[in-house]
Amino acid sequence: MTMLDPTVGERRGARVSRDVYTSDEIYRLEKERVFGRTWHFACLTSDLKKPGDFFTVTVADQPLILLRGNDDVIRAFFNVCTHRAAILTGQKCGNYGRVLKCMYHAWAFNLEGELVGVPYEEGYGPDFDRGELGLVSVSVDTFFDLVFVAINPRVPSLVDYLGEIVDHLGPYVQGIEAIGRNSWTYEGNWKLWHENFRDNYHPEFAHRNIHDIIPHYADRGGNWALEPAHSVLQWVAEAPNAKAYIRSLRRYSGVEFAENDTPSFSNPEGFHEAPQEVLAVFPNLDVQPGPKTRGRGMKAGYIQTVTPLSPSRSRVDMVVYSAVDDDPETRARNLENLADSQGSWGKISGDDTEAAHRCQMGAQGTGTRESIFTRGVAPGNGGQDADPRDEYSLRIFYRAYDDYLSAE
Ligand SMILES: [Fe+2]
Repeated sequence: MTMLDPTVGERRGARVSRDVYTSDEIYRLEKERVFGRTWHFACLTSDLKKPGDFFTVTVADQPLILLRGNDDVIRAFFNVCTHRAAILTGQKCGNYGRVLKCMYHAWAFNLEGELVGVPYEEGYGPDFDRGELGLVSVSVDTFFDLVFVAINPRVPSLVDYLGEIVDHLGPYVQGIEAIGRNSWTYEGNWKLWHENFRDNYHPEFAHRNIHDIIPHYADRGGNWALEPAHSVLQWVAEAPNAKAYIRSLRRYSGVEFAENDTPSFSNPEGFHEAPQEVLAVFPNLDVQPGPKTRGRGMKAGYIQTVTPLSPSRSRVDMVVYSAVDDDPETRARNLENLADSQGSWGKISGDDTEAAHRCQMGAQGTGTRESIFTRGVAPGNGGQDADPRDEYSLRIFYRAYDDYLSAE
């Protein structure tokens, strides 16, 4: 099955059938062939600090649990009792002490996943073998402080999977920990959210506050496709135009603001002259760290995944992080700044949610049946000479997507 037009080579992925946003059959295949075969960000290593700490995620509708063992090793299992399939916990995270006990018949598993307790075990007869009935493991690996899981053990190693994004992502994700979380659902296909983090064409239009604060936001920087399926979008903003922003806020809200009223200006120097990046990892992860230089704020940022719930409904899970050695005041400021723009109610996320929903509504129409990702015509990956608004990183996404979807 191919969802792309017949173009070959680097231009493949430039025109994509809108069936990818609406078809039940494609949605079923995505779960099996894309989500079932790729690495997925689950949590930070600091979410699993000590033996017994657990964190649960769902990948391709399958409940998974990550668990730190008594030997300090992080493992991942299906969050499913081997007896009758009850999930072992419905909690997002916590600590299990020494065993995980199923609520249904109290089968108990140790922190390494072995079945260690079966009430009235003798009734199963002499051939009953606890060794066969331990929790079923799935692949888990870490990249600095990021913990990833993969259902299908045939996927390449995590480092091979990350490919060219390793050097970009590595410096940002060391010595960080979660300081806040936010999840929300929207009425739109999951890819519409992920596309947004590879798209440097829309912010100056869709995000009025970006236009007002940093008017030439997209003029410097770049948007690179990184093999095998990822991207880095970068901008270097001029000094923020606080006066224009405040004028705009007054105009649209009718509220009188003082210049220091808005959280976005509590660390204004972070806005300009330091490259800022959005890193997108196939298929559904993006990491948006603070500015690269200027010590202050460097380690704060957010991590998002988007999880499909149906062809037209998705959930966003956001983690705001800070450096482990940030003081409480810095953490509070980082949390406020990021929540203000990127939380479910944020100035930026609100616009993107609206855009995703509008695209979903339109994709159900039969008037035009292809989406266009043709910006940027020079060969290559959208390097320094390309316009940062070009769409190389969207094309590499859809090339990889089509490859996964086509593989039996
Ligand atoms: Fe956006």
